[in-house]
Amino acid sequence: MPKAAITAVGGYVSDKVLSNADLEKMMDTNDEWITSRTGIHERRVLPKDQAVSDIGVDVVNQLLEKTNTSNEEIDLLICATCTGDYIIPDTANNICYKAGLTNTFGYDINAACSGFLFALYTASQFIETGRYKKVIVIGGEKMTSYMNYDDRTTSILFGDGGGGVLLEPSEKFGVIDAILKGDGVGSQMLKIDAGGSLNPMNQERLDNKENFVTQDGKQVFKRAVTGMSTTVEEVLNRNNLEPNEINWIVPHQANERIINSVARQLSFPMDRVMLNIDKYGNTSAGTIPLCLWEYESQLNKGDNIILTAFGGGFTWGSLYLKWAY
Ligand code: UT7
Repeated sequence: MPKAAITAVGGYVSDKVLSNADLEKMMDTNDEWITSRTGIHERRVLPKDQAVSDIGVDVVNQLLEKTNTSNEEIDLLICATCTGDYIIPDTANNICYKAGLTNTFGYDINAACSGFLFALYTASQFIETGRYKKVIVIGGEKMTSYMNYDDRTTSILFGDGGGGVLLEPSEKFGVIDAILKGDGVGSQMLKIDAGGSLNPMNQERLDNKENFVTQDGKQVFKRAVTGMSTTVEEVLNRNNLEPNEINWIVPHQANERIINSVARQLSFPMDRVMLNIDKYGNTSAGTIPLCLWEYESQLNKGDNIILTAFGGGFTWGSLYLKWAY
């Protein structure tokens, strides 16, 4: 059975920066609080006329160019997002259309901040069957469309951006194992209340600002640390791996203190943990591909890499792969 190897990675953020100093002018907060509690210095904001498909199109073009692949060769594109361009149509389909992927079918996966992990593992099954040769996985968000800038505990955390990977069959490299989990107890602890079929948008809900992300930050924090560290441990044990055999852990970037706690629980050194939350904040399904994109030049063929994420749902898990180039 072939493995699904990552053969290229791309990333995209807009140039527009929303710094802690900018937020100080918008709400009662300060750089010292945000930096010490979250590790975030700034985030990126997509312009009004751009959305997740624009991230996806840019990333697709990078992937095709890097691997000398033509548009017609892509079989499937999965887009992980919880902030897609529209409710209908799905964003993956829109990315395929705008990027000229004429032989590609696509669909979205919404697993909030775990979306990229869930989409990558799903996509890898298509390669493993032998039926699909080239699959693109995108993880991207326009979180700023769902931020209530009167809610200082949540709005300071999130930014826009994302990335993606091309998957191709390989004998030796690629996705080896994953443990993915879910627990609906989290459904009320991290959510956007209105705009779905249960609470369709109306003026009252807009006035109550129910169209924005709300969360129980403390509960999410605790569950994130436990969820990520235990599934990393489970994946290591199942594959007879010691932490010193892992070259990189790529954690979802929600809060630097969460990442530090996970590394501490695992006795894993922070210099092998990818970190870029200071520049982008939490881009939900976008954080893991954005990390891979930024650290690409430091990765080597055969590196053992663990991706781990936790998000709304709750959804969480860890995935083990061998880097292919
Ligand atoms: O991908 C998953 C998505 N979400 C997460 O991962 C979020 C996980 N949770 C967290 O990251 C943290 O819980 C937060 C960053 C959201 C909050 O940090 P905290 O250390 O749990 O702070 P807190 O909510 O306990 O608030 C402590 C204090 C409060 O003041 P008092 O009541 O002690 O006087 C808050 O009102 O900090 C205050 N505070 C702020 N002060 C300045 C809350 N937000 C801010 C702010 N600026 N932005």
